[in-house]
Amino acid sequence: MFEIIKRDGLARIGVLHTRRGRLDTPALLPVVNPKLATVTPADIYYHFGFQGLITNSYIIKNSQGLKEKALDEGLHKLLDFPGVIMTDSGTFQSHMYGEVEVSNQEIIDFQKAIGSDIGTVLDIFTEPYWTEEQTRDSIAVTLERTVEAVSLKEDMMIAGVVQGSVFPDLREECARSMASMGVDVHPIGGVVPLMEQYRYRELVEVIISSKKGLSPDRPVHLFGAGHPMLIALATLLGCDMFDSASYAKFARDDRFMFLDGTSRLQDMYGLECDCPACRDHDLESLKALADEERMVTIARHNLYELKKEMGRVRRAILEGNLWELAETRCRSHPALLDGLRCLKEHVSYLERFEPLSRDCAMFHTGSETLSRPSFHRYAMRSQERYVSPTERCMFMEETGKPHGRYMGKEFRSLLSKDVLPLVRTAFGPVPPDLDEIYPMAQSLFPSIRDGETECLMDREEKTFMEVHGLRNVTADIDEGEFDINLMRALSVARYQFGREAADILFDGPVELVVSRNTGKIRNVLVSGEHILSMRASDGFYTLRVEGARKLIARLPAPTMRVTVIDDAIPFNREGRNVFCNFVFDCDPDLRPMEEVMVVSKEDELLAVGRTLLVREEMLSFKKGIAVKVRDGTLSQKI
Ligand code: GUN
Ligand code: ZN
Repeated sequence: MFEIIKRDGLARIGVLHTRRGRLDTPALLPVVNPKLATVTPADIYYHFGFQGLITNSYIIKNSQGLKEKALDEGLHKLLDFPGVIMTDSGTFQSHMYGEVEVSNQEIIDFQKAIGSDIGTVLDIFTEPYWTEEQTRDSIAVTLERTVEAVSLKEDMMIAGVVQGSVFPDLREECARSMASMGVDVHPIGGVVPLMEQYRYRELVEVIISSKKGLSPDRPVHLFGAGHPMLIALATLLGCDMFDSASYAKFARDDRFMFLDGTSRLQDMYGLECDCPACRDHDLESLKALADEERMVTIARHNLYELKKEMGRVRRAILEGNLWELAETRCRSHPALLDGLRCLKEHVSYLERFEPLSRDCAMFHTGSETLSRPSFHRYAMRSQERYVSPTERCMFMEETGKPHGRYMGKEFRSLLSKDVLPLVRTAFGPVPPDLDEIYPMAQSLFPSIRDGETECLMDREEKTFMEVHGLRNVTADIDEGEFDINLMRALSVARYQFGREAADILFDGPVELVVSRNTGKIRNVLVSGEHILSMRASDGFYTLRVEGARKLIARLPAPTMRVTVIDDAIPFNREGRNVFCNFVFDCDPDLRPMEEVMVVSKEDELLAVGRTLLVREEMLSFKKGIAVKVRDGTLSQKI
């Protein structure tokens, strides 16, 4: 079973529970060639700390000595590895050398017999140069074999490989069929040639189309991906597992893997690496080593580099800055940058998984940052959900964040003259009442703008003015007073919950509780009831039970709701979290970290909280929290 611990967009930190114990994801499985272990499996486990490895059952089966030992003693004893062992099936050998002499049933039975924890179907490797017809026909065979493997697997986990060459529709279709089968792990296969040829743009298309068809409750493995420079991007797109044969293969050719690419020993002018393998060497001493020892040293370096990057990526997910890390990594090679750049074409899909806010500020790392889902979301919501108080506007340059702290006086003066001040930002024009929400206030851009940012700003300003029927005016700024807080209170509600919900919430006399220290809104009372509180950290609201009562009465289902099954009702009423296995349905428009009402099937309000997952995730996971509940209707302090 696969459990999600933390997510950021499509990226996730999870645990695959296997019969050999846990595999924490994102996970890298070093490939061990059972015939020549460059680094021993015991070292991989105890010294490097990798919880799993992958080896090839086809090679074991075809080697008399290994086969007998594996059948007699089991795979874990054969390799001397106490962790999770995944086995591949011979498909890669067919890609390299042509046909393999084994049937799907034989290789599944063999993987079971030697005690593999995760076995793999004998899928057909769809080459990138194949025609659509050839690809379609071979997917049909792979799917048949997957059905067969599922029927044979018993208590072994099974990996069902998504194939489809470079055809996004076929990938998605294949993934969707796989998702409906009793498979435990989903490798994305047939991508090694794309990586070898630096075709990262197509690789990204393949990953995204596969992810679209797969079910979120299973880990996704990118077959053959084991270069540290690719891990951040692939994790960002929702890959949970990787395997690397390159650490050993590259070492055989004296090649070092670094975060910014691969370097050949004879081309290097220095060795600045401080990893335990390199620490006691300089170039000359390394070159002087005997072939075997040098190869092992480089292989160990490559594993340290991979291990470090896995840890770095994990930390980035926890800290909320994986986008920044992936963007930085992708700058190490123009072809990787292509992979990053084509995310722009998938921004609507990515936005569905984008959290409402993050704990850390967003950093601009280059023009590709402008295509991040947060930008798309601001453009959409500020056009669709914002309501301008006037038809006249005036643009201002940004001087600091949040804008109101630096330009509050000018804002009030303009607003009192019926002019909407708009601050020019890379997100597009920001009105004074949306200046504190994420990521407008929680972001950093270079003060010297590039041409692309200017271009985007011009475009967004034009659209914003058109959508809201605004006309640019010049106005003298002098003393004038205007209470911007009331405007902010309503605009943030519209931006966060949508116009309809905001109008329901603000349907009576409004009273704002403002912080004496900062002047910022803390609580919103309507008709004397405390309905919303505003968070200082990201400028958004938390919904109170009283606010939810107003919404539930007039906002049609399923908007802003997670519906739970009857068994969960008493628990949620008392303020306990909503677990995935109790979710009956969910508003498909809710994004991660949004405010939500927990309701029964009869639409009775049970609790309020924040979503951790989107609908399809809530419905597919069997374990884990779907909604972090803040207050149950029976748990409120009176
Ligand atoms: N190893 C690398 N690519 C593949 C693939 O497409 N299928 C299998 N089974 N193993 C692989
Ligand atoms: Zn090193």
